[in-house]
Amino acid sequence: MEHRALAPVFFFDLEPVQMLHDYAKAVYNHPNGSRPVTGAGLERGFRRMPVRVGVIGGSGYTGGELLRILLHHPDAQVVYVASRTQAGQPVAASHLPLLGLTELVYEPADPGSIATRCDVVFLAVPRGASMDVAAELCRLGVRVVDLGTDFRFRNPETYRYWYGADHRHPELLADAVYGLPEMNREAVRKARLVGNPGCYPTAVLLGVMPFIKAGCVDPADVVVTAMSGVSGAGSTPAPMYHFPECTENVQAYGVPGHRHTGEMEQGIAAMLGGGGQVSVSFVPHLVPMSRGIQATIHLRLTEKLTTADAIALMQEHYRFEPFVRVLGENRLPQTKVVAGSNFCDVTARSDPRTGRLIVLAAIDNLVKGAAGQAVQNMNLMFGLDEAAGLRSPGLYP
Ligand SMILES: NC(=O)c1ccc[n+]([C@@H]2O[C@H](COP(=O)([O-])OP(=O)(O)OC[C@H]3O[C@@H](n4cnc5c(N)ncnc54)[C@H](OP(=O)(O)O)[C@@H]3O)[C@@H](O)[C@H]2O)c1
Repeated sequence: MEHRALAPVFFFDLEPVQMLHDYAKAVYNHPNGSRPVTGAGLERGFRRMPVRVGVIGGSGYTGGELLRILLHHPDAQVVYVASRTQAGQPVAASHLPLLGLTELVYEPADPGSIATRCDVVFLAVPRGASMDVAAELCRLGVRVVDLGTDFRFRNPETYRYWYGADHRHPELLADAVYGLPEMNREAVRKARLVGNPGCYPTAVLLGVMPFIKAGCVDPADVVVTAMSGVSGAGSTPAPMYHFPECTENVQAYGVPGHRHTGEMEQGIAAMLGGGGQVSVSFVPHLVPMSRGIQATIHLRLTEKLTTADAIALMQEHYRFEPFVRVLGENRLPQTKVVAGSNFCDVTARSDPRTGRLIVLAAIDNLVKGAAGQAVQNMNLMFGLDEAAGLRSPGLYP
């Protein structure tokens, strides 16, 4: 892979005059970047350049969520938003909550132009649509975070097994980092290409990780039932997501062998260091709400563990994590509590009668399950505060 040298994020080693010159150039050269850089970028007496961000697939749900987060990010500036169908239209005309907050206009996705204007690009497009543009952007030296499935698997055979198609750029898979920061933080910091995890796998992997790593459950016997709000399917209409058909209704889908199963198995195998047998049985359900994922995971205990032990293990495992909250014995995760936030709420209950450990996790599919996690990854990739732009507690009730 050919790489352009990365634009420096900090200017600790430059002469002050040169630093101010570069800073001014950066502010005034942003074609859509009328937003002034504020004092939030001041650090140790030096001003920090904002990371210049592009979003491809900006007109969709995760694209809109990226913009919602990034327009208030203290150290990033959105300079390019691409849409095939709405090029030339104001971004706020299709993302109505952004009215009055941005003057950005959709443009066609032109990798050459993106490479001159962006340090990082988020790909918020359907499966299969990221591969070629990611390859081109990587070749041009732009860092990429793909919110879709194209760069989540390390092995092209695994991709073919779950998606029934050949990967067009298998040479990139070994370099791509699976962007679950709680699992791969150090690798994400150095990554040029991040495969942002799926929404269900995010909730499930964060739920099981303390127990898989502690070796107190059987990785070959993982049973997951999970529920998702309808925004998880994206903004393209389909009969299953039509209001009269999905309201007052709960329906399972993808039974058996939903594609996210492979991602869960790959993640658990990685927690084990690649060895051991891993088997996940997963059934997702569509439920009548806009956003949110609740996962209930049944693990087979291989040693005695009380509920208090299990919660203590989770608390110890996640004690330094900014976005994983371990709930105690008196509370269970709820989708409404995490809606709009980048938090994943988790807890566990031991069931000595069945020898099972029941783990529960809740996230917002569009935030920790997609755009929020993608921004968390960007923060790591550019040496920023990992939680920058992501501290909002969401909206309740
Ligand atoms: N929704 C979620 O909760 C969620 C969670 C985790 C991951 N993801 C993943 O994130 C990606 C985006 O999901 P989403 O929910 O934002 O979908 P979406 O609402 O359907 O938006 C996708 C956008 O991509 C553009 N697009 C569609 N087909 C394309 C193609 N062939 N080539 C280039 N652009 C195309 C469309 O914009 P234009 O037609 O205007 O160009 C569309 O607005 C998907 O890969 C999805 O699996 C979604």
